Amino acid sequence: MKDALLAIENLSVSFHMGKRTTKAVENVSLYLEKGETLGLVGESGSGKTVTAMSILRLLPGSAVYPSGAIYFNGKDCLGMDEEDLRKIRGNRISVVFQQPMTSLNPLHRIGKQIRETLFLHQAISHTQADQKALAWLDRVGLKNPATKLTAFPHQLSGGERQRVMIAMALINEPDILIADEPTTALDVTVQAQILDLIQDLQKELGMAILFITHDLGILKKIADRVAVMKEGQIVETNVPDLIFKAPAHPYTRHLIDSEPRGGPDPVGDGDQTLLEVSGLKVWFPIQKGILRRTVGHVKAVDGISFTLKRGHTLGIVGESGSGKTTAGFAILKLNNSMGKILLGENSLNDMASAEIRELRKRMQIIFRTPWQPEPQDVRGANHRRGPVHTRPRPQPGTGGGKDHGGHGKSRAGPGGPGPLSQ
Ligand SMILES: Nc1ncnc2c1ncn2[C@@H]1O[C@H](COP(=O)(O)OP(=O)(O)OP(=O)(O)O)[C@@H](O)[C@H]1O
Ligand SMILES: [Mg+2]
Repeated sequence: MKDALLAIENLSVSFHMGKRTTKAVENVSLYLEKGETLGLVGESGSGKTVTAMSILRLLPGSAVYPSGAIYFNGKDCLGMDEEDLRKIRGNRISVVFQQPMTSLNPLHRIGKQIRETLFLHQAISHTQADQKALAWLDRVGLKNPATKLTAFPHQLSGGERQRVMIAMALINEPDILIADEPTTALDVTVQAQILDLIQDLQKELGMAILFITHDLGILKKIADRVAVMKEGQIVETNVPDLIFKAPAHPYTRHLIDSEPRGGPDPVGDGDQTLLEVSGLKVWFPIQKGILRRTVGHVKAVDGISFTLKRGHTLGIVGESGSGKTTAGFAILKLNNSMGKILLGENSLNDMASAEIRELRKRMQIIFRTPWQPEPQDVRGANHRRGPVHTRPRPQPGTGGGKDHGGHGKSRAGPGGPGPLSQ
C-alpha cells in the first residue's frame, strides 16, 4: 500500500481542548492510485474532513496524531518539515472546499489570488501568470474570463466561484485533488456541470481525486472505489457497484436506505388553506450616479402565486438566482414586495410591523447555511455573520428609514414598495 501515490496508514487524529482530548479519526487506512477517484462518504462529524486535512497538515495546532503515517510518493507527510510540505501543498496536492466564499479572500481580485497560487510554485513573470490565469478561467468554462480576472469574489455567482477555486487548485497541475464537498452548496444544474468539469480535467491531467461527499448518488457516478466512514473509522471500502448492491456493513446499508425515495404521505383535498400568495413581486432597484437615480430593476421575484394548506408541504425548486430565497423573505415580510399575502384570514399587506412581528411566530424559516446575506443585499456583498433579524429593515429605494448597506437613499414614499413605485 505504501507504493500507492497516496497511502494513509493507521491514521488517528485527536484534538486537545483544554484538559480534554477528543478522538476525531481512529486507525484509518486508505490508498489512492494515480488517476483514480476514491469517494469518501459518511455522516456529518464522521471525520472525513479531518482525514483529508491531515494529508497536508492543514489542521489547527490543537490536532495531534497519536498514530499513523501518510505517504505521498513514498514520503511521510506527517514527518516532513514545513519547507518540503509547502512544495507539495497547492502544487502536487490541491484542495477544493465546499464554500468557495470562505476559501477565496473577499478583499482581493480573482486575478491576484490566482497569480499568488502560481508565484508560490513557479518562477514566472506577472504577464505570464496573467496569461496562464486567463487560460485556466477559460478552461474551467467561465464566460468573459478577462472580466473575471478583475472581479472580486462577491461579484461572481456560487457556481462561478467554485470554477475559480477549481482553476486555482488545478493551475499547477497536481497529482492529487482533494475535493471536500465541492458541489454541496450548488444547485443541481451547476453541480452537474462542475462534476463533469472535474472529471474532464482529471482525464486531461491524469490526476487522482479524493472526493468527499454526503451524496452517495454522486459517488455512484464518479468514484472508482468508495470508502465509508463512521465515527472516525472506515467501516467498508469497495467498488461502487458492490457498495450499492451488496453493502457489507450495516451502516453502509443504513446510508443507502436513508437516500430519499418514494413519495410523501397522502394529504387531504379539503384541508384548510393557510397561506395564499398571489402576484408576489420583489424588484430591487438598480441605482446609478451621485443622485442614486433608479435606472432599472432586478426582478428577483416577478409575479408568483400559490396556496399552501395546513399540514401540506409545498416545494419550490429552481436554479441558483431564480428567486426562491427572496420569495421566502417576502412571505415573512423581511423585504418589500408587491402582491397579496394572506396568512389565514390576515392580510400581511395591511398590517403594521408590530402585528407582523406577532404573526411571525406562526411562520418560521430555516436557512441553508447558518449565516445568510442580508435579505436586501442583492449584490451578495457585506455578508455579516450572526442571527438574521426578524424585523423588516428599510429597503433600498423605499425611503423607510436610514440607508442600509450602502445602497443609497430612497426616492419613493415611506412604507410603500419603493422599488415598484418608481
Ligand atoms: N478544530 C477542531 N477542534 C476540535 N474538534 C474538531 C475540530 N475539527 C473537527 N473536530 C471534530 O472532529 C470530528 C470530525 O469532524 P470532520 O469535520 O472531519 O467531520 P466530517 O465527516 O467532515 O463532517 P461533515 O460531513 O459535517 O463535513 C467531529 O467530531 C468534529 O467535532
Ligand atoms: Mg467535512
